[in-house]
Amino acid sequence: MQIHSLIPELRAALQNRGHIAIVPTMGNLHAGHIALMTQARTHGDTVVATIFVNRLQFGPNDDFDRYPRTFQADCEKLAAAGVDVLFAPGEADLYPEPQQYHVDPPEIQHQLDGAFRPGHFRGVATVVLKLFNIVQPQVALFGKKDYQQLLVLRNMTRQMALPIEIVGGETVRADDGLALSSRNAYLSAAERAEAPRLQRLLKRIGTAICDGNRDFVGLESEAAGELDRNGWKTDYVAVRRQSDLQVPQAPEEQALVVLAASRLGVARLIDNVEINAASGH
Ligand code: PAF
Repeated sequence: MQIHSLIPELRAALQNRGHIAIVPTMGNLHAGHIALMTQARTHGDTVVATIFVNRLQFGPNDDFDRYPRTFQADCEKLAAAGVDVLFAPGEADLYPEPQQYHVDPPEIQHQLDGAFRPGHFRGVATVVLKLFNIVQPQVALFGKKDYQQLLVLRNMTRQMALPIEIVGGETVRADDGLALSSRNAYLSAAERAEAPRLQRLLKRIGTAICDGNRDFVGLESEAAGELDRNGWKTDYVAVRRQSDLQVPQAPEEQALVVLAASRLGVARLIDNVEINAASGH
């Protein structure tokens, strides 16, 4: 696996490499990231992973400074997964001067996670557009665990007419259902034992909806209440349309997703479950 931190070197290395599939990450790689790398292999001749902890997408009270950085271990995992090229720029490589031009996503950037992390999706969209311009991939893969991020980036790519196919990867979970996340590293042993409740509750809402319950607000507040009674501090539990993450308007809408973000100790966990009410799962 080639490793580059400088943009000109990376560009030279990517000449005549055929179809390029990119998997942008912030490092601290787990099996969810590696599944995306494996999936990327089926989409491109050359798989490019990127590792960059992007300051622009962290708020002043977010975990930028303590975000886990595990570069050596990450390189070993990427090489073992058959990644061809790793782009791991330093801050001065990607932001040699303060970034004054930004991608400003529409209203969705202020909803759900965006309501609790002002500026987050603007920072994500800006860095991803920059990575796209540097790597010039034909395909880009992002995990569905960050469901809203995937939607924002898909819409950005379409509206900016970027010649890139956006592919979503399924969430990879531990045996007890907890979605793999770099932020799980912040959980104590007791919190780790409690953490799978989040997915259990989302699945329970999905089952209730498939059984005909359309009291979304009731289902959301019941789940948030159960989380908070068990030591969580919930930002939101929300039933939304898959297509645009807006509140379902008509009872017959069936492609839904239940999303949640809640804090357990210092860890802010997010998760979601897609529901196809028509087929019953
Ligand atoms: O999902 C992530 O790890 C980040 O938000 C991304 C897409 C790499 C942008 O920094």
